[in-house]
Amino acid sequence: MRHKSIVVLTGAGISSESGIATFRGSGGLWENRRVEELASPRGFAVYPELVHRFYNGRRRQMLSPSIRPNAAHHALAELESGFPGRFLLVTQNIDDLHERSGSVKVIHLHGELLKKRCAHCGDVESTKADLAVTDTCRACGRNGGMRPHVVWFGEMPLRMEEIHAALRCCDLFVAIGTSGNVYPAAGFVDAAIAAGARTVELNLEPSAVESAFEEKIYGNASRIVPQFARTLLA
Ligand code: APR
Repeated sequence: MRHKSIVVLTGAGISSESGIATFRGSGGLWENRRVEELASPRGFAVYPELVHRFYNGRRRQMLSPSIRPNAAHHALAELESGFPGRFLLVTQNIDDLHERSGSVKVIHLHGELLKKRCAHCGDVESTKADLAVTDTCRACGRNGGMRPHVVWFGEMPLRMEEIHAALRCCDLFVAIGTSGNVYPAAGFVDAAIAAGARTVELNLEPSAVESAFEEKIYGNASRIVPQFARTLLA
């Protein structure tokens, strides 16, 4: 086995063949507003109902029976269970398709759609239901503060210390289905290079940071991820 410690970063592209639209692929618009405008603390302060509607729609879609993990998600779960070294999957996705396919060590650095958080007290709770401005927090009893447990533009991504600790000692870094437009995730490849890791980009097309990667494979994730994962387990 050539590698001892693997960090995989995934983005919206790994879930697109499962039927979940990527961010930038749709032109980045929803009800004629830029997603960046809605997915922000200011967007929530100004248009809370609209922001809830946006995430409620995405949650319902994600829970619909037609949305299922694809071969790329399954291949990463198999890689994790078959790889004897250290393995960490960091995803920018707020969907739960990695968990549904059996991945265990997963960090959602942009949060999770199936959780809600109280903006007043910080309590986090699982949810499959729609959120509303009138919802009350189970922990502090206040209302008006329940929001999706997702990281918005202008907010700090989650669990960065753990991610950087893993990057510092990885010897393979693989980025899958991410356009490389959003930092800090787009900079993880540089941290991996600083650690001396082999770096591989698996994407439909060259990302904004493709020049940083040593190896690149382009195509649909459902095809190229299982192929690549097999080479690691061989
Ligand atoms: N297989 C592989 N890659 C694909 C596929 C596919 N079937 N379909 C699309 N892609 C690639 C696209 O070419 C693109 O480079 O996936 C990438 C998706 O890019 P984005 O939509 O920008 O998604 P992502 O990089 O995850 O966005 C990062 O931005 O909007 C925020 O918080 C949001 O987590 C998100 C972050």
